[in-house]
Amino acid sequence: MRKNIVAGNWKMNTLPKEGVELANGVAEGRKEVCDCVEIIVCPPYTHIAQVIEAVEGKNVKVGAQDCATEVKGAYTGEVSAEMIAALGCEYVILGHSERRQYYGETSETLNKKMARAFEFGLKPIYCVGENLEEREAGRHFEVCKQQIEEVVFNLTEEQFANTVIAYEPVWAIGTGKTATAGQAEEIHAYIREVLRSKFGAKAEECSILYGGSCKPSNAQEIFSKPNVDGGLIGGAALKAEDFLAIGKAF
Ligand code: 13P
Repeated sequence: MRKNIVAGNWKMNTLPKEGVELANGVAEGRKEVCDCVEIIVCPPYTHIAQVIEAVEGKNVKVGAQDCATEVKGAYTGEVSAEMIAALGCEYVILGHSERRQYYGETSETLNKKMARAFEFGLKPIYCVGENLEEREAGRHFEVCKQQIEEVVFNLTEEQFANTVIAYEPVWAIGTGKTATAGQAEEIHAYIREVLRSKFGAKAEECSILYGGSCKPSNAQEIFSKPNVDGGLIGGAALKAEDFLAIGKAF
C-alpha cells in the first residue's frame, strides 16, 4: 500500500565524472532490483543535470539534497526549488541533520523550504532524528515528534500525501553504528502514530525510511520491519554495487 524506497544521499561527494559513473552503475544494475522499490539518487547540484541524463529511461529517480527558502532573487549562492525542478528532479531532501547541525536550519527555515518544494512540484524527503545525548536521555520520541509537529503538521493532506519521512538518528550517521532493527521499528511505529494523530488513515500510506550506517549486511533485517519502508543511504550509496544490494534487500 505504501511505496518502498531506497534513496542515495551522496552528500558533498563525487566530482561530475565520478557522479556520472556512479549513476551509470546504478542505472545499469537497477533492473536486478525489484520494481516494487523506488530507487532515488541525490547528487550534488553541480551534476544533477548530467545524472538525470545518465539515468533517463532507467527507472531511477533523482533528487536534490536541499533547496532555498526563497523563490528567486538576490540570494547569492542559493539554489531554488524551481531550478531543481526545471532540471527534472522529482525529490528534494529537507531537514537533514547535517543541515540542522552545521547550517542552523530550524523548523521555521524548513517550513519555508517545504512550501517552496511543493510550489514547484518537488516531493520532500523530510528528515528527523535525535542526537546521541537525546537518545541517552530517552528523549528520542519527543525530539522526533516535535520535528514532525512543527513542520509536517503544517502541510495540507495533499502535500502530506507527497511527502516521504526519513528517520535518521544522528548517532548512527556515518559512524558505522546502526540502530537495531528493533530500535528502528519502535520509533518508526511511533512516528506513524504521530502522523496518524494529524492525518488519520493517510499515515498508513506515508513511506518512512531509515537512515544511518545502513549497508548491504544490515538492510534486510531493518527493512523487514513493518513500519520501515526503505532507507536513506549515505556512505553505501557511493558504490553502485552496495547501493543496489541494499535495494535488493526487498
Ligand atoms: P550514512 O549511511 O553514511 O550513515 O549516512 C546516512 C545519511 O545521513 C543519509 O542521509
